[in-house]
Amino acid sequence: MKKYNITIAGGGSTFTPGIVLMLIEESHRFPIGRITLYDNLASRQDPIGKAMEILLRERYPETEFSYTTDPESAFTDVDFVFAHIRVGLYAMRELDEKIPLKYNVVGQETCGPGGLAYGMRSIGGVLEILDYMEKYSPNAWMLNYSNPAAIVAEATRRLRPHSRIINICDMPVALENIMAAILGLKSRKELIVRYYGLNHFGWWTSVTDKAGNDLMPQLKAFVREKGYAKETEDYQHRAESWKNTYLMAKDVYALDPDTLPNTYLKYYLLQDEVVAHANKNYTRANEVMDSREKEVFGKARTIIERGTAEGISFDTGHHATFIVDLACALAFNTKERMLLIVPNKGAISNFDYDAMVEIPCLVGSDGPEPLAVGEIPTFQKGLMEQQVAVEKLTVDAWIEHSYLKMWQALTLSKTVPGAKVAKQLLDELIEANKGYWPELK
Ligand code: NAD
Ligand code: G6P
Ligand code: MN
Repeated sequence: MKKYNITIAGGGSTFTPGIVLMLIEESHRFPIGRITLYDNLASRQDPIGKAMEILLRERYPETEFSYTTDPESAFTDVDFVFAHIRVGLYAMRELDEKIPLKYNVVGQETCGPGGLAYGMRSIGGVLEILDYMEKYSPNAWMLNYSNPAAIVAEATRRLRPHSRIINICDMPVALENIMAAILGLKSRKELIVRYYGLNHFGWWTSVTDKAGNDLMPQLKAFVREKGYAKETEDYQHRAESWKNTYLMAKDVYALDPDTLPNTYLKYYLLQDEVVAHANKNYTRANEVMDSREKEVFGKARTIIERGTAEGISFDTGHHATFIVDLACALAFNTKERMLLIVPNKGAISNFDYDAMVEIPCLVGSDGPEPLAVGEIPTFQKGLMEQQVAVEKLTVDAWIEHSYLKMWQALTLSKTVPGAKVAKQLLDELIEANKGYWPELK
């Protein structure tokens, strides 16, 4: 059986150890030849790389593993690139979150002005990796979950239309795990769903079991009372701030009791409440730096100091098995049904043909084949049209180096009250992002 060579781009990510361990756990169904970590910042990646090298040598000596900052060795003879880069690191995430909050605007990694600022940084980083792949392994697939995935997806659709990139998000997966728990089912894999929207901006319209029984009534009864506040084993989403997000889904749900919402809609529909409850001096970036980053890098340092990983384990990214599902679908033509971020091309019949939408697809060796969604209601259509325009204007601004387009994007964002605040925000974001954004004229 063929073994697949995988490169993890963003090797210094806090998620890397979990992904590597998950890959090993799943290797019975997705055989691994070699795992390579790639990052453009050696000081960030080295601790993770060294620690994983020690751990793997002890526990999985048959796994071929290395880490590098050299693009040629990272991307030569590779089958899949799993990309989770963060251009600007947590220092810039912190500013993405805190600058908008100064203006009483939502401060979030992927939504509102912070998400647009992050988008302007990410586009170049992801394109760079796609270009290395084109040069060294043109047949490789990139499974991208670098954020903001919506903007990255729109930019790569336009700027690298022939690249083999598939953009994916773990939020629907995490929420479907919660749905399965609410229903008392073992796994989200027992569910068949219909869903549509944009990344971090979507709705479930149908959830059934494999026999076709409608499970929506039971789910709605739960979400109406408690949102998605149901304990699961998901490590990342166990943090207090995430629990609060899950609870707030109840108020988002109330706006359209026919569907079940993605949690991220709270930033667009309950923005006042989100801002009112935000701590302007301590945001999610601070929480992550104080928890996940400290924990992962702390363990890595301990392993290196001791020269052994004995007694130390990293949380396996169990919930990230969807990435292996996607890789298997591409490698073995499984035609698995998955929610992916793809060009609409008429799947949502009353929506932009070339918008990047998040919808169910069947995935085979040629890539994703979107399923027809049909017409969507006015409420969702209106929200999505506004948000898609914001994302497209941001990509325009990046391509054309246009101050005006970026100002329009910020003004149009549902999270921003008006053009004046948008301009102040833009000027401050430009200052903060010097060296990361193209120079806007
Ligand atoms: P992190 O800062 O810990 O790791 C990101 C790594 O990317 C860093 O080591 C950094 O040096 C590296 N990097 C930055 N620019 C690069 C470039 N041009 N080339 C190569 N490497 C580069 O971040 P994290 O919190 O672990 O998250 C990583 C990414 O994964 C983020 O974009 C995050 O939003 C995303 N993420 C997405 C999903 C999803 O659902 N799509 C889920 C979880 C995380
Ligand atoms: C969810 C989203 C990701 C996002 C992450 C942030 O999983 O789907 O797109 O990156 O949350 O999590 P964090 O723990 O870094 O705030
Ligand atoms: Mn996501």
